Amino acid sequence: CGIVGVLGNHEVAPLILEALKRLEYRGYDSAGIATLQEGHLDRRRAVGKLVNLSDRLVHDPLPGKAGIGHTRWATHGAPTEANAHPHRAGRVAVVHNGIIENFRDLRARLSDRPFESETDTETVARLCERHMADGLPPREAAAATVRELEGAFALAFLFEGEEDLLVAARRGSPLAIGHGEGEMFVGSDAIALAPMTHRITYLEEGDIAYVTRAGVEIFDAEGRRANREMRTISGQSVAVDKAGHRHFMLKEIYEQPTVLSDCLRHYSDGTAVTIREGELDFAQTDRLILVACGTAHYACLVAKYWFEQLAGLPCDVDIASEFRYREPPVSDRATALFVSQSGETADTLAALRYARDKAARIVSVVNVPESSIARDSDLALPILAGVEVGVASTKAFMNQLGALAHLAILAARQRGRIDSAREAELLGTLRSLPGLINQALALEPQIEAQTRRLAEAQSVLFLGRGAMFPMALEGALKLKEISYIHAEGYASGELKHGPIALVDKSVPVVVLAPRDGLFDKTVSNMQEVMAREGRVWLVTDAEGGRLAGDGVWHRLVMPTVDPVFAPMLYAVPAQLIAYHTALHKGTDVDQPRNLAKSVTVE
Ligand code: G6P
Repeated sequence: CGIVGVLGNHEVAPLILEALKRLEYRGYDSAGIATLQEGHLDRRRAVGKLVNLSDRLVHDPLPGKAGIGHTRWATHGAPTEANAHPHRAGRVAVVHNGIIENFRDLRARLSDRPFESETDTETVARLCERHMADGLPPREAAAATVRELEGAFALAFLFEGEEDLLVAARRGSPLAIGHGEGEMFVGSDAIALAPMTHRITYLEEGDIAYVTRAGVEIFDAEGRRANREMRTISGQSVAVDKAGHRHFMLKEIYEQPTVLSDCLRHYSDGTAVTIREGELDFAQTDRLILVACGTAHYACLVAKYWFEQLAGLPCDVDIASEFRYREPPVSDRATALFVSQSGETADTLAALRYARDKAARIVSVVNVPESSIARDSDLALPILAGVEVGVASTKAFMNQLGALAHLAILAARQRGRIDSAREAELLGTLRSLPGLINQALALEPQIEAQTRRLAEAQSVLFLGRGAMFPMALEGALKLKEISYIHAEGYASGELKHGPIALVDKSVPVVVLAPRDGLFDKTVSNMQEVMAREGRVWLVTDAEGGRLAGDGVWHRLVMPTVDPVFAPMLYAVPAQLIAYHTALHKGTDVDQPRNLAKSVTVE
């Protein structure tokens, strides 16, 4: 969820809407705004995307110069208007990101009248109202409320009759305070506040902030006054332009040759990786731990093949939500690497904090340099993909692979596994990728035609071997995220140990098989599918002959690429297959149901 607060000199509802638009990546189930008009608290809320709230405000405006707003990704309670934030109890309105873990106890304690919603957030408003009824002024009531909450959260409070006060609290979920000219702002991230100010103070764990138009007073978890640095951030603006494409996702797929070139230039001069030796030392590290969620996790799984094969560096890859609670031993010679497009994913951030005092070095690979994960790392490496709007990650995945490939080459050099000639050769292969990606993009009309039948399937399997196995996982994830067709990625060799039972003529099987050392083995697995009437869609650069796929349902002939970096090229057909299948099904490609671009609750 995303939260915003504004103490302005003009009408704040339009500013809050603009900021919420920039926070929609955190959820779009419902949205709401509360303002104070002549001291009176009023609110508007709407189910669905932000556009529904702005339509609502056109017909039923919300005047006022102080307000809070919220865009929601439902946790407790369905995405209904009653469950939408801001939540209100008496003189208090609250917006919240995160989860209040003791909300059941609080609900029981506050049961003197029925609750209006099923949310954990309403208990916060009710608790604060109770403290005010007991005689506490707004600031103290909010502080007392926060002290009684358990869980990870960020909160902003607005009070009836208090035109010049916002209370903001951070525990677990990030929160930024923005400084304007006689105006002040609160936001889940700095980018949300970018149209209003670039001067930002980030709250730290346990902080509570009392914001007025004159400035902010911050107190730490022990109640001591805290001095938090104010920094000026670069004014990155959200691209609202689809550049003539039908969807952001398609635009972002087509941006890949360009943004990948930017990333490649950033990390090498064409013959050597340019990350400075002092910044990272893979010779001293005994293990690399890669942690992420979703698509970023699959980028890590691809990179594992590179780190192990090129650099001989043992490598563990983990899903952040598992890593953080499994309490894995982390040696003080390990390097822990966190990959996140947004840099705000709650589980990834918590996993980073778990590793913080254990691993020798905390490195992150992020797309948003001002993000929480970047700020909490010893070294944050940007992927330079530019703003990614489509919920299904495409160009960020590509550039995560780009950055990770350079790290693997650096590790190989530092560990004495490759000489400078091999380093230059590998970098040359990477530099050939943008051109090859352009050639793969030219296959779009063919993919468009072939996905017509895929859209009729109930279930689709994706197969790959070696580093193409994680690509099969990513292909399946893309398809299910945006077309809502059940899909699974499998290692080709594992098919016969279970999923082959699913195969019949109704189940398309997409086989990602560049002509590498494992090609013939994958072809055998493909034959096993065809022998059971399975319909194989072979994506390969091998042409001609039985092995190249006689009798397959579809064949997509890819440009030839050095097998090491083939996953980066094969990401393109995987993305286009998902995109066109979704178009045939008529789903909401850029904002698919139930998902958020970045999940800021665990
Ligand atoms: C969500 C998105 C995925 C994304 C994952 C991790 O689940 O829907 O597309 O891969 O979060 O996000 P991050 O910002 O950490 O890369």
